[in-house]
Amino acid sequence: PSLEKDFLPLYYGWFLSKRSSEHLRKTGQAFLDELASIKAFKKESNKYFGQPPEEPKMKIDLTGYFVKRPPGVLHCTTKFTDFGKAPGADDYAQQEIVKTSYGKSFFLTISALFITPRTAGARVEMSEQQMLLWPGDVDVLQPAVSFPKGSRAHITLGCASGVEAVQTGLDLLEFVKLEKAGNKGEEVGEIGGGKLVSFGNGMWMLLLSKKIEVRAVFGGYYG
Ligand code: A2P
Repeated sequence: PSLEKDFLPLYYGWFLSKRSSEHLRKTGQAFLDELASIKAFKKESNKYFGQPPEEPKMKIDLTGYFVKRPPGVLHCTTKFTDFGKAPGADDYAQQEIVKTSYGKSFFLTISALFITPRTAGARVEMSEQQMLLWPGDVDVLQPAVSFPKGSRAHITLGCASGVEAVQTGLDLLEFVKLEKAGNKGEEVGEIGGGKLVSFGNGMWMLLLSKKIEVRAVFGGYYG
């Protein structure tokens, strides 16, 4: 028995290998680049992505728009524990599966890329085994709308100026909320990598025709 209380990380999650991280960043950038040059996107980028009104036809620099990019390797947060202060932090950290998985290597599957006027991210599709590491209390949009377990699983690729990273998961839940309501979005066409779908309000998703597998190690980030 240890004499000291466990010191919990800022968050638990899967940390991509350097190689996978670089690959996903590149794929994300290619998506933003291609999206920015699509007619249907240009038509509304003015309204949602702050294109100067005097230059409505100019191609917007989306990479520059999502200016806050995660430093270091990309990750998929499972539980934000805030050094133990977050609700449910201790319960999560004390789970046997969390302890035994710590430091173990996984392959995560990415099924889609998405952007909103606030965030850019990658949607993560967990296996049943990976789902065991997913907390029971995070797939929720306030006030009290719950979604199927794992709905929020994502990797933040970038945030617009002034937007916190926590927003990416909430934005993904907004897509799921529309899906749940039977809104399949408007299919704009096939672009490099998959099917492009517009959900309105500056919400776009690329459903990857070939899912991306990334290598990642489960662990904690202490800041
Ligand atoms: P995400 O997992 O969507 O990328 P920060 O850099 O703001 O301190 O956040 C560190 C990480 O923890 C980020 O990955 C971020 O979001 C996630 N995060 C921050 N705050 C929360 C929160 N309240 N709930 C869930 N995840 C959070």
